[in-house]
Amino acid sequence: MRIYMTEDYQSMSRRTANIISAQVITKPDSVLGLATGSTPTGAYQQLAEWYRKGDLSFAEIRTLNLYEYYGLSPRHEQSCRCAMQRNLFDHIDIRPENTYVPDGLARDPRAECAAYDATIRALGGIDLQLLGIGVNGHIGLNEPGDDFGLESHLVQLSESTLQRNSRFFECREDMPRQALTMGIKSIMHTHRILIAASGAEKADILCRAFCGPVSREVPASILQLHPEVTLVGDRAALSGLREAGLPICG
Ligand code: PGA
Repeated sequence: MRIYMTEDYQSMSRRTANIISAQVITKPDSVLGLATGSTPTGAYQQLAEWYRKGDLSFAEIRTLNLYEYYGLSPRHEQSCRCAMQRNLFDHIDIRPENTYVPDGLARDPRAECAAYDATIRALGGIDLQLLGIGVNGHIGLNEPGDDFGLESHLVQLSESTLQRNSRFFECREDMPRQALTMGIKSIMHTHRILIAASGAEKADILCRAFCGPVSREVPASILQLHPEVTLVGDRAALSGLREAGLPICG
Protein backbone atom coordinates (compact mmCIF):
# COMPACT_ATOMS: atom_id res chain seq x y z
CA MET A 1 0.00 0.00 0.00
CA ARG A 2 1.21 3.50 -0.80
CA ILE A 3 0.22 6.27 1.59
CA TYR A 4 0.40 9.94 0.64
CA MET A 5 0.02 12.60 3.26
CA THR A 6 -1.12 16.09 2.41
CA GLU A 7 -1.48 19.17 4.56
CA ASP A 8 -5.24 19.67 4.47
CA TYR A 9 -8.52 18.81 2.74
CA GLN A 10 -7.77 20.97 -0.26
CA SER A 11 -4.40 19.39 -1.00
CA MET A 12 -5.85 15.93 -0.29
CA SER A 13 -8.52 16.64 -2.89
CA ARG A 14 -5.96 17.82 -5.41
CA ARG A 15 -3.77 14.74 -4.91
CA THR A 16 -6.81 12.46 -5.22
CA ALA A 17 -7.87 14.23 -8.41
CA ASN A 18 -4.32 13.92 -9.71
CA ILE A 19 -4.35 10.15 -9.39
CA ILE A 20 -7.76 9.92 -11.05
CA SER A 21 -6.68 12.22 -13.87
CA ALA A 22 -3.54 10.13 -14.47
CA GLN A 23 -5.81 7.12 -14.90
CA VAL A 24 -8.06 9.04 -17.32
CA ILE A 25 -5.12 10.31 -19.36
CA THR A 26 -3.29 7.00 -19.60
CA LYS A 27 -6.46 5.03 -20.38
CA PRO A 28 -9.15 7.35 -21.79
CA ASP A 29 -11.77 4.58 -21.80
CA SER A 30 -11.17 3.62 -18.17
CA VAL A 31 -13.89 2.27 -15.95
CA LEU A 32 -13.90 4.35 -12.77
CA GLY A 33 -15.61 3.30 -9.57
CA LEU A 34 -16.85 6.45 -7.83
CA ALA A 35 -17.94 7.36 -4.34
CA THR A 36 -20.28 9.89 -2.76
CA GLY A 37 -20.16 11.42 0.74
CA SER A 38 -18.33 14.59 1.67
CA THR A 39 -14.75 13.36 1.16
CA PRO A 40 -14.56 13.23 -2.66
CA THR A 41 -16.40 16.47 -3.50
CA GLY A 42 -13.21 18.57 -3.55
CA ALA A 43 -11.53 16.08 -5.90
CA TYR A 44 -14.56 16.19 -8.20
CA GLN A 45 -14.40 20.01 -8.26
CA GLN A 46 -10.75 19.81 -9.20
CA LEU A 47 -11.43 17.30 -12.00
CA ALA A 48 -14.21 19.54 -13.34
CA GLU A 49 -11.83 22.50 -13.29
CA TRP A 50 -9.17 20.59 -15.25
CA TYR A 51 -11.87 19.57 -17.72
CA ARG A 52 -12.92 23.25 -18.15
CA LYS A 53 -9.31 24.21 -18.79
CA GLY A 54 -9.12 21.58 -21.52
CA ASP A 55 -6.64 19.35 -19.70
CA LEU A 56 -8.93 16.30 -19.35
CA SER A 57 -11.73 14.59 -21.25
CA PHE A 58 -14.17 12.05 -19.92
CA ALA A 59 -15.80 11.42 -23.30
CA GLU A 60 -14.90 7.71 -23.29
CA ILE A 61 -14.90 7.14 -19.51
CA ARG A 62 -17.44 4.80 -17.90
CA THR A 63 -18.31 5.15 -14.21
CA LEU A 64 -19.98 2.93 -11.65
CA ASN A 65 -20.98 4.30 -8.27
CA LEU A 66 -20.59 2.32 -5.10
CA TYR A 67 -24.14 2.51 -3.86
CA GLU A 68 -27.57 4.11 -3.87
CA TYR A 69 -30.02 4.52 -1.00
CA TYR A 70 -32.86 2.07 -1.42
CA GLY A 71 -36.20 3.81 -1.78
CA LEU A 72 -34.81 7.11 -3.09
CA SER A 73 -35.69 8.35 -6.53
CA PRO A 74 -32.70 9.32 -8.67
CA ARG A 75 -34.23 12.81 -8.64
CA HIS A 76 -34.18 13.08 -4.83
CA GLU A 77 -31.50 15.63 -4.05
CA GLN A 78 -29.82 13.32 -1.51
CA SER A 79 -29.70 10.35 -3.85
CA CYS A 80 -26.23 9.33 -4.96
CA ARG A 81 -27.32 9.82 -8.57
CA CYS A 82 -28.27 13.41 -7.88
CA ALA A 83 -25.11 14.06 -5.87
CA MET A 84 -22.94 12.73 -8.71
CA GLN A 85 -24.75 14.90 -11.26
CA ARG A 86 -24.39 17.97 -9.04
CA ASN A 87 -20.77 17.39 -8.02
CA LEU A 88 -19.26 16.00 -11.21
CA PHE A 89 -21.26 14.68 -14.14
CA ASP A 90 -23.06 17.95 -14.96
CA HIS A 91 -19.68 19.71 -15.25
CA ILE A 92 -17.75 17.36 -17.53
CA ASP A 93 -18.16 15.76 -20.95
CA ILE A 94 -19.07 12.27 -19.72
CA ARG A 95 -21.88 10.59 -21.66
CA PRO A 96 -24.94 10.09 -19.44
CA GLU A 97 -25.35 6.53 -20.69
CA ASN A 98 -21.83 5.74 -19.45
CA THR A 99 -22.62 6.57 -15.82
CA TYR A 100 -24.06 3.79 -13.70
CA VAL A 101 -25.63 4.11 -10.25
CA PRO A 102 -27.91 1.39 -8.81
CA ASP A 103 -31.60 2.21 -9.17
CA GLY A 104 -32.87 3.08 -5.70
CA LEU A 105 -36.45 2.50 -6.83
CA ALA A 106 -35.86 -0.98 -8.25
CA ARG A 107 -38.84 -3.20 -7.43
CA ASP A 108 -36.64 -6.25 -7.12
CA PRO A 109 -33.41 -5.32 -5.31
CA ARG A 110 -31.85 -8.74 -5.91
CA ALA A 111 -32.39 -8.48 -9.65
CA GLU A 112 -31.08 -4.91 -9.64
CA CYS A 113 -27.91 -6.01 -7.82
CA ALA A 114 -27.40 -8.97 -10.17
CA ALA A 115 -27.80 -6.61 -13.13
CA TYR A 116 -25.31 -4.18 -11.57
CA ASP A 117 -22.74 -6.96 -11.15
CA ALA A 118 -23.38 -8.03 -14.75
CA THR A 119 -22.73 -4.45 -15.87
CA ILE A 120 -19.42 -4.35 -13.96
CA ARG A 121 -18.39 -7.57 -15.70
CA ALA A 122 -19.62 -6.44 -19.13
CA LEU A 123 -17.48 -3.31 -18.82
CA GLY A 124 -14.45 -5.48 -18.12
CA GLY A 125 -14.16 -4.69 -14.40
CA ILE A 126 -13.21 -1.48 -12.62
CA ASP A 127 -9.78 0.00 -13.36
CA LEU A 128 -9.69 2.42 -10.44
CA GLN A 129 -12.08 2.43 -7.50
CA LEU A 130 -12.32 5.57 -5.37
CA LEU A 131 -13.38 4.91 -1.78
CA GLY A 132 -14.06 6.93 1.32
CA ILE A 133 -14.06 5.27 4.72
CA GLY A 134 -16.84 5.49 7.29
CA VAL A 135 -15.97 6.29 10.91
CA ASN A 136 -17.19 2.75 11.60
CA GLY A 137 -14.87 1.32 8.94
CA HIS A 138 -17.42 0.77 6.22
CA ILE A 139 -16.38 0.91 2.57
CA GLY A 140 -19.19 1.43 0.11
CA LEU A 141 -22.01 0.72 2.51
CA ASN A 142 -20.61 -2.60 3.67
CA GLU A 143 -21.18 -2.22 7.36
CA PRO A 144 -19.30 -3.86 10.26
CA GLY A 145 -20.16 -7.56 10.41
CA ASP A 146 -21.27 -7.81 6.76
CA ASP A 147 -20.17 -10.81 4.75
CA PHE A 148 -16.89 -10.30 2.84
CA GLY A 149 -18.02 -12.76 0.15
CA LEU A 150 -20.84 -10.68 -1.31
CA GLU A 151 -21.07 -8.82 -4.59
CA SER A 152 -23.74 -6.13 -4.92
CA HIS A 153 -26.55 -6.54 -2.41
CA LEU A 154 -29.20 -4.85 -0.33
CA VAL A 155 -27.80 -3.77 3.02
CA GLN A 156 -29.33 -2.54 6.28
CA LEU A 157 -27.57 0.64 7.32
CA SER A 158 -25.93 0.59 10.73
CA GLU A 159 -27.01 2.95 13.49
CA SER A 160 -23.69 4.79 13.10
CA THR A 161 -24.27 5.39 9.37
CA LEU A 162 -27.89 6.41 9.93
CA GLN A 163 -26.81 8.94 12.53
CA ARG A 164 -23.93 10.32 10.52
CA ASN A 165 -25.51 10.51 7.08
CA SER A 166 -28.84 11.84 8.31
CA ARG A 167 -27.12 15.25 8.35
CA PHE A 168 -27.72 15.34 4.61
CA PHE A 169 -31.50 14.87 5.02
CA GLU A 170 -34.00 17.42 6.29
CA CYS A 171 -35.11 15.09 9.03
CA ARG A 172 -33.73 11.74 10.05
CA GLU A 173 -36.99 9.96 9.22
CA ASP A 174 -36.46 10.90 5.56
CA MET A 175 -33.28 8.89 5.38
CA PRO A 176 -33.65 5.40 3.92
CA ARG A 177 -32.53 2.58 6.22
CA GLN A 178 -31.32 0.39 3.38
CA ALA A 179 -29.05 0.74 0.39
CA LEU A 180 -27.97 -1.18 -2.70
CA THR A 181 -24.19 -1.38 -2.42
CA MET A 182 -21.35 -3.04 -4.26
CA GLY A 183 -20.09 -5.76 -1.98
CA ILE A 184 -16.64 -6.32 -0.55
CA LYS A 185 -16.08 -9.02 -3.17
CA SER A 186 -16.86 -6.52 -5.94
CA ILE A 187 -14.52 -3.95 -4.39
CA MET A 188 -11.71 -6.48 -3.95
CA HIS A 189 -11.96 -7.41 -7.64
CA THR A 190 -11.17 -3.88 -8.81
CA HIS A 191 -7.70 -3.44 -10.31
CA ARG A 192 -6.63 -0.44 -8.21
CA ILE A 193 -8.08 1.17 -5.15
CA LEU A 194 -7.74 4.81 -4.16
CA ILE A 195 -8.96 5.58 -0.69
CA ALA A 196 -9.32 9.19 0.42
CA ALA A 197 -9.70 10.40 3.99
CA SER A 198 -9.73 13.77 5.69
CA GLY A 199 -9.97 15.01 9.25
CA ALA A 200 -9.12 13.81 12.74
CA GLU A 201 -12.35 11.83 13.02
CA LYS A 202 -10.90 9.30 10.52
CA ALA A 203 -7.56 8.84 12.33
CA ASP A 204 -8.65 6.06 14.66
CA ILE A 205 -10.52 3.98 12.09
CA LEU A 206 -7.65 4.24 9.59
CA CYS A 207 -5.38 2.79 12.27
CA ARG A 208 -7.78 -0.03 12.99
CA ALA A 209 -8.18 -0.71 9.26
CA PHE A 210 -4.51 -0.73 8.30
CA CYS A 211 -2.62 -1.63 11.49
CA GLY A 212 -5.07 -4.06 13.08
CA PRO A 213 -6.20 -7.53 12.08
CA VAL A 214 -8.34 -8.14 9.00
CA SER A 215 -11.79 -8.45 10.50
CA ARG A 216 -15.41 -8.20 9.45
CA GLU A 217 -15.87 -5.74 12.32
CA VAL A 218 -13.73 -3.27 10.32
CA PRO A 219 -14.71 -3.84 6.68
CA ALA A 220 -11.93 -1.57 5.34
CA SER A 221 -9.33 -3.88 6.92
CA ILE A 222 -9.86 -6.28 3.99
CA LEU A 223 -7.99 -3.76 1.85
CA GLN A 224 -4.78 -4.98 3.51
CA LEU A 225 -5.17 -8.00 1.21
CA HIS A 226 -5.58 -5.99 -2.00
CA PRO A 227 -2.34 -5.68 -3.99
CA GLU A 228 -2.88 -2.15 -5.35
CA VAL A 229 -4.11 0.28 -2.73
CA THR A 230 -3.23 3.96 -2.50
CA LEU A 231 -4.36 5.96 0.51
CA VAL A 232 -4.40 9.74 0.31
CA GLY A 233 -5.09 11.47 3.58
CA ASP A 234 -4.51 14.80 5.19
CA ARG A 235 -2.25 15.24 8.21
CA ALA A 236 -5.13 14.96 10.68
CA ALA A 237 -6.56 11.77 9.19
CA LEU A 238 -3.15 10.11 9.01
CA SER A 239 -1.98 11.08 12.51
CA GLY A 240 -2.56 7.59 13.95
CA LEU A 241 -0.90 5.79 11.03
CA ARG A 242 2.13 8.10 11.38
CA GLU A 243 2.41 7.30 15.08
CA ALA A 244 2.12 3.60 14.28
CA GLY A 245 5.16 4.01 12.02
CA LEU A 246 3.63 3.12 8.64
CA PRO A 247 5.77 4.42 5.77
CA ILE A 248 4.22 7.61 4.45
CA CYS A 249 5.20 9.62 1.37
CA GLY A 250 4.95 13.41 1.44
P1 PGA B 1 -17.70 10.90 4.23
O1 PGA B 1 -18.19 9.41 4.19
O2 PGA B 1 -16.88 11.10 2.99
O3 PGA B 1 -18.96 11.72 4.20
O4 PGA B 1 -16.89 11.06 5.48
C1 PGA B 1 -17.28 8.41 3.92
C2 PGA B 1 -18.00 7.09 3.88
O5 PGA B 1 -18.98 6.94 4.62
O6 PGA B 1 -17.57 6.22 3.11
